[in-house]
Amino acid sequence: MMEALLFVVIMNYIATLAKCSVGVNWGTMATHQLPAQNVVNMLKDNGFEKVKLFEADDSILQALSGTDIQVMLAIPNYMLEDMSLDSGAAAAWVEANLTAYAYPGGVDIRYVAVGNEPFLKSYNGTYLQHTLPALKNVQEAINNVGLGSQIKATVPLNADIYNSPDSNPVPSAGDFRPEIRDLTVQIVQYLYSNDAPFVVNIYPFLSLYGNIYFPLDFAFFDGGSKNKPIKDGDYVYTNVFDANYDTLVWSLTKAGYPDMKIIVGEVGWPTDGDKNANIENAKRFNQGLIKHVLGEQGTPARKGKIEVYLFSLIDEDAKSIEPGSFERHWGLFDFDGKSKYELDLLGMEENKGLVSVQGVRYMLRKWCVLNPRVKDLDQELARNVDYACSLSDCTALGYGSSCNGLSVEGNASYAFNMYYQFKNQNEWDCDFSGLAVVTDEDPSDDKCRFPVMIAYGNSVLLLHRNLVNILLAVLEGCIVILLLVS
Ligand SMILES: *[C@@H]1O[C@H](CO)[C@@H](O)[C@H](O)[C@H]1NC(C)=O
Ligand SMILES: *[C@@H]1O[C@H](CO)[C@@H](O)[C@H](O)[C@H]1NC(C)=O
Ligand SMILES: *[C@@H]1O[C@H](CO)[C@@H](O)[C@H](O)[C@H]1NC(C)=O
Repeated sequence: MMEALLFVVIMNYIATLAKCSVGVNWGTMATHQLPAQNVVNMLKDNGFEKVKLFEADDSILQALSGTDIQVMLAIPNYMLEDMSLDSGAAAAWVEANLTAYAYPGGVDIRYVAVGNEPFLKSYNGTYLQHTLPALKNVQEAINNVGLGSQIKATVPLNADIYNSPDSNPVPSAGDFRPEIRDLTVQIVQYLYSNDAPFVVNIYPFLSLYGNIYFPLDFAFFDGGSKNKPIKDGDYVYTNVFDANYDTLVWSLTKAGYPDMKIIVGEVGWPTDGDKNANIENAKRFNQGLIKHVLGEQGTPARKGKIEVYLFSLIDEDAKSIEPGSFERHWGLFDFDGKSKYELDLLGMEENKGLVSVQGVRYMLRKWCVLNPRVKDLDQELARNVDYACSLSDCTALGYGSSCNGLSVEGNASYAFNMYYQFKNQNEWDCDFSGLAVVTDEDPSDDKCRFPVMIAYGNSVLLLHRNLVNILLAVLEGCIVILLLVS
């Protein structure tokens, strides 16, 4: 009897745990994509139950089909104008990208994200007028196919749409930025009336990156007592995430929506490309965050669990580095699906490793390095290094990054290798005016990894193209022989 009772209690406990794991953003701006099915298997192995996709990618949606993984599916910003002006465009998107997958036994799509941070200051207002009409057209199109009660359209917005005045930098003084306040409140109104959540992206790493005076420990969830906490009336803040989240809670309250549902659509920490971007900080932040959001305590201004989607799943080597070199290193997993550090997604504090993507195929164990016989490290070399970096990814070389300790020669080898790997290890892409040679000796050390590319993506296309070329050559040969015979 006791055992049975205990069993039921334990099973219930496990069931509640299972329902409250964190979600994750799966971006695909990489030159070489892991097969979607292998990644979905990894999501299942690790118990991820929610993913956010930046666009409708057929192979990913196919792989998610039939799983229990809940999906937030985004419409890219460039489509907002069309969708705002033409409800037919929204209906076409819903038909091609939603109803095609969101059937019983298909993909469990819960939210459609209309745009991505369309009110970001750096977009100079480009999407301001299109966002709300597009949101409405998309939700109406969803309603028209009978999915309105299960799929809610929303708009992920960046945390720079609200702030507190410098003169009184506490959450309770926060409000939406004056120049976009009316528009934002109209969106909130629409979402609220449709029982849809407000989605916000919060980045403590960027607070630290953008302000050298920012107290490091305030970015994390365990450093509170070492800092002077921020006092806001009766509320005490020991980390910037809570302060930021509550600034939104207050902004919504002032707009008349104190109980608006909030989802944090992106939050995370990069592992390379800046002095504060490393494995140790990323693990400290993400583990602290998971423990914090899955607990019941919530933030000072809003108790209860907090729903978050970690940013991000896998490193993306084709992302723009205009915001900073760290942009290509947000993944919990490397470009090849290897887990970077231990992370317990249930926040139980055990040192639980994440399961890496299984069955990954690599290209040959070959690297392109500076020819050791080269002695003149002149301008010719510098020019070739710049060229290699401009067409690949040298973000690990910069100040504070994993490969920053290399010599001039090491830098050159790193740049040549990245170019060679990006180009799928073609012999002719390891030349650089005779400065480079191919080697089968791994130049990596403990800190700095010289990668070998995965054998997917454009490498596969290339293989096909090579095959076609060989076939054509063979055909040409036959024709020659035929001509000779006749
Ligand atoms: C479906 O989504 C994809 C990816 O975002 C997009 O390229 C395509 O145009 C969409 N289809 C329609 C009919 O809008
Ligand atoms: C916004 O304006 C700045 C400065 O005029 C410009 O450099 C930038 O390219 C613009 N961005 C967009 C997305 O239009
Ligand atoms: C290697 O390249 C990085 C990034 O360009 C640079 O910061 C560093 O100073 C270089 N190292 C040497 C020894 O030239």
